[in-house]
Amino acid sequence: MQCSWKAVILLALASIAIQYTAIRTLTSKPFQLCPVPSPQNCGLLGGPETESPIEGRAGCDDYPYFSFNVSRKTHIMVLATTRSGSSFVGQLLNQHADIFYLFEPLYHVQTTLIPRLSHSRNAADRRVMLGASRDLLRSLYGCDLYFLESYIKPAPANHTTDKLFRRGASRALCSQPVCDAFGPTDANVEEGECVKKCAALNMTLAADACREKRHVAIKVVRVPEIGDLRALVEDPRLNIKVIQLVRDPRGILSSRIETFRDTYRLWRIWRATGRRPYNLDLSQLTVVCEDFLGSVSTGLSHPHWLKGKYMLVRYEDLSRNPLLKTMEIYDFLGLSMDKSVEEWIQTNTRGSTELSAKHKYGTVRDSAANAESWRLKLSYDMVEYTQATCQKVLHQLGYKAVKSAEELKNMSLSLVQDKTFVPFS
Ligand SMILES: *[C@@H]1O[C@H](CO)[C@@H](O)[C@H](O)[C@H]1NC(C)=O
Ligand SMILES: *[C@@H]1O[C@H](CO)[C@@H](O)[C@H](O)[C@H]1NC(C)=O
Ligand SMILES: *[C@@H]1O[C@H](CO)[C@@H](O)[C@H](O)[C@H]1NC(C)=O
Ligand SMILES: *[C@@H]1O[C@H](CO)[C@@H](O)[C@H](O)[C@H]1NC(C)=O
Repeated sequence: MQCSWKAVILLALASIAIQYTAIRTLTSKPFQLCPVPSPQNCGLLGGPETESPIEGRAGCDDYPYFSFNVSRKTHIMVLATTRSGSSFVGQLLNQHADIFYLFEPLYHVQTTLIPRLSHSRNAADRRVMLGASRDLLRSLYGCDLYFLESYIKPAPANHTTDKLFRRGASRALCSQPVCDAFGPTDANVEEGECVKKCAALNMTLAADACREKRHVAIKVVRVPEIGDLRALVEDPRLNIKVIQLVRDPRGILSSRIETFRDTYRLWRIWRATGRRPYNLDLSQLTVVCEDFLGSVSTGLSHPHWLKGKYMLVRYEDLSRNPLLKTMEIYDFLGLSMDKSVEEWIQTNTRGSTELSAKHKYGTVRDSAANAESWRLKLSYDMVEYTQATCQKVLHQLGYKAVKSAEELKNMSLSLVQDKTFVPFS
């Protein structure tokens, strides 16, 4: 009997684990069993877009008793930082008829938990934010949109809100049955039109729409390091595929100066006056590049947990050859690219800045034509400084440093080295 206290502790630990598992199982919707295991139910098990029905059926025979819906879903994550072209990539997924897309839901976590800190260096803040972010993402991939409500301010009443961040960027949230303002033939509803004309968002309907779609894609710009997502990527209930989108940090900086006018006020002064303000907080850029380097290094070192789930895309490559790159992305996801995606690319990447300027919400504004336009906007000393700070990541991703103002402004000299990043398979 002298060891019984150990037994008690063991029992207690075991029961906690069992309870936890039970709770997770009960609360997570993705665990739905096929009511009747039949070739029809399981035909898609061999992969979402399996061409051969024989392959699909073989998969079904192998797993006749647990062919739940989740195995068919691809949970797509576009991992990027702000102003690196992620809205553009998001749209490439949003246009697909089988994909339910959400534009930066973590915005709500950040504004609720850590107001005003877009790149907090405080380790405790980061941990809180990351834990909450992972939980939210897990729920959203399972189409549990009610979970998001606890982060929306003001709190939604009766599961209805008009405060979902960038709701209009998601096609499914601007079309029937979620929004009745547009008919099925209104293919490309402008984001602003959607927000203006659709009634407040009914989260129940939105969740239904999510379940109707075969796949879920989420754009994430508020997670600094891909390693922070490991628990999510390894979660067996999910089938996560990460597209890490990167961009030349000099281009990111230039774009942020235009967009985040308060945060980058001193950088604007530097650009306008040609003199660096003495009180400019240079650590702003240091943090960006350190996170960036850490994240890319993790991804490119191909840790086992990312096997088959990771692809790095340079925004500049996408801009140069949008159709080809998009096909590669869909290939990696194991989905076939549908006609509407191709059409969207055609309409939005003709290289005409006039066309782009019409999209006032900036989805396309920063796309194809001007991936390298930062070179005409930043002064040489700003570029020089950025290059010094971000030297390692520039090198790793194949972005060339310039040595003079002439080189910087000479657009016939490309700063993007040819470099192939094959998906980690
Ligand atoms: C929520 O629904 C209930 C019952 O339909 C209604 O009485 C209440 O006014 C609604 N609340 C809001 C804020 O719309
Ligand atoms: C939202 O949609 C659900 C499902 O159609 C419906 O039952 C509910 O009444 C709607 N909520 C509101 C506030 O209209
Ligand atoms: C499984 O997914 C399909 C769409 O692919 C949907 O129609 C069906 O309702 C889902 N089944 C369950 C049990 O959720
Ligand atoms: C621009 O770069 C090209 C390619 O290196 C070079 O041939 C050309 O002379 C440069 N133009 C100027 C104005 O420096």
